[in-house]
Amino acid sequence: MKIIKSVREMAAFSRDVRRRNRTIGLVPTMGYLHEGHLSLMKAARRQTDVVVVSIFVNPLQFGPHEDFRQYPRDFRRDRAMAQSVGVDVVFCPSQKDMYPDGYRTFVTVDKLTDGLCGASRPGHFKGVTTVVAKFFGIVKPDKAYFGQKDAQQAIVIKRMTENLNMGIDIRVMPIIREKDGLAMSSRNVRLSAAERRDAPILYQSLVKARRMVKGGETDPSKVIRRICFLIEGKRSARIDYVAVVDARDLSPLRSIDEAVLIAVAAYFGKTRLIDNIVIREDKRHN
Ligand code: PAJ
Repeated sequence: MKIIKSVREMAAFSRDVRRRNRTIGLVPTMGYLHEGHLSLMKAARRQTDVVVVSIFVNPLQFGPHEDFRQYPRDFRRDRAMAQSVGVDVVFCPSQKDMYPDGYRTFVTVDKLTDGLCGASRPGHFKGVTTVVAKFFGIVKPDKAYFGQKDAQQAIVIKRMTENLNMGIDIRVMPIIREKDGLAMSSRNVRLSAAERRDAPILYQSLVKARRMVKGGETDPSKVIRRICFLIEGKRSARIDYVAVVDARDLSPLRSIDEAVLIAVAAYFGKTRLIDNIVIREDKRHN
């Protein structure tokens, strides 16, 4: 497995791979890898010839009061994990190489970034789309892999890729969870023991919401109220948002009758966690 630290070297490596008519799969990450990340790498390994994983904690997508400095980092561990699933290249550029002096160019996706995480994290998605567009430009992958865990991010990146004719196939993979249902996240290590015990309520409340919808509930506000009630029952939890939206374009739903995305974000102590569930009409009983 190759470790590439410079943007120039990464671009040259990719050029060489493409010249040999081999396909490239890219998995963008911020490191501190877990099984969720590995599932994306395994999919890339199955579906493309050369698998590139980027590890870059992107300062642009963190707000001034967010956890950029405290974001967990462990390169040695990440390298071993990437190697264990057959990754070909770990690309870990420096901040200076990604955003040199005089850096002035940003990518924004309108509307889709207004609600949910975009509302509580202003500027976050501009940072995400900008860094992902840069990775696409450097690596020029055929396919790029993202997790359903960050549902809004996946939708925003798909739209960016389409709108800017980037010609990259965006693959969205299912959420990988701990045994108790908590969605895997690099941030889970920052939870105290009590917070960790409370955190599975996110998934539990989503499962209960799904049961309501499958049982015929069509009123989003009733579903939202139930989820809030359940999460608020945990001492360390503080809700950021609970949303019931159209799973395709995140638009608000007056009535639940199509593909619906139920998304939640909550703080457990200082750590903000997100989770979501998609319910499709065809899977509903009535
Ligand atoms: P990061 O949080 O490291 O996540 C990298 C990728 O792994 C994302 O596509 C995310 O959705 C996916 N992922 C995280 N947890 C997952 C889980 N439990 N199951 C399945 N997939 C999971 O998301 C980012 O980094 C950044 O915003 C990035 C896209 C790299 C841009 O900086």
